[in-house]
Amino acid sequence: MAPATDIELFREVFGRFATGVAVITSAGRSSAGGMTANALCSLSLDPLLALVCFENQARTLPIVRDSGRFAVNVLAADQERLAGVFASKLPESEKLDGVAHRFEDGVPVIEGSLAWATCELNELIAGGDHTIAIGRVSAMGLGDGEPLLWYSGRYRSMAGG
Ligand SMILES: Cc1cc2nc3c(=O)[nH]c(=O)nc-3n(C[C@H](O)[C@H](O)[C@H](O)COP(=O)(O)O)c2cc1C
Repeated sequence: MAPATDIELFREVFGRFATGVAVITSAGRSSAGGMTANALCSLSLDPLLALVCFENQARTLPIVRDSGRFAVNVLAADQERLAGVFASKLPESEKLDGVAHRFEDGVPVIEGSLAWATCELNELIAGGDHTIAIGRVSAMGLGDGEPLLWYSGRYRSMAGG
């Protein structure tokens, strides 16, 4: 285990890498849910691959493992409340309650998202206390609005603040 001071500095260093905020949703035969994430990126154009890092304890991970699918929902600036819900430990089965969504390729896509992509799980790779999920994009689309941002441990908007 790295010393606590290293972990703190590591968090601060990578916290200065400004990102957007997404909710990774998934649904299987018996469960559905999602988690807020910013450890994600596009990986490959040929084929179209996306990569998401799941904390090993994330309850969304077994749903993704079982269903073999997930969706990346890129959040808009007015969806900060949703980011809070999906970052919480609310029972997984309740996270999507009251959240407007539809199913695309068997996975929940959140209405009002800035952009979305559904993925077929290609590979899970161990990465320390996280698991890297690589998905092959099966469908995607664009919404409207400004992005919700995450920088130095808090939500931001393009307008500043
Ligand atoms: C802005 C933000 C980004 C996050 N990024 C990630 C991430 O990339 N991977 C991850 O496993 N957890 C991430 N988290 C933490 C999860 O959202 C949190 O642990 C959540 O409770 C997991 O939900 P689950 O247990 O229902 O899957 C992030 C939280 C916030 C607020």
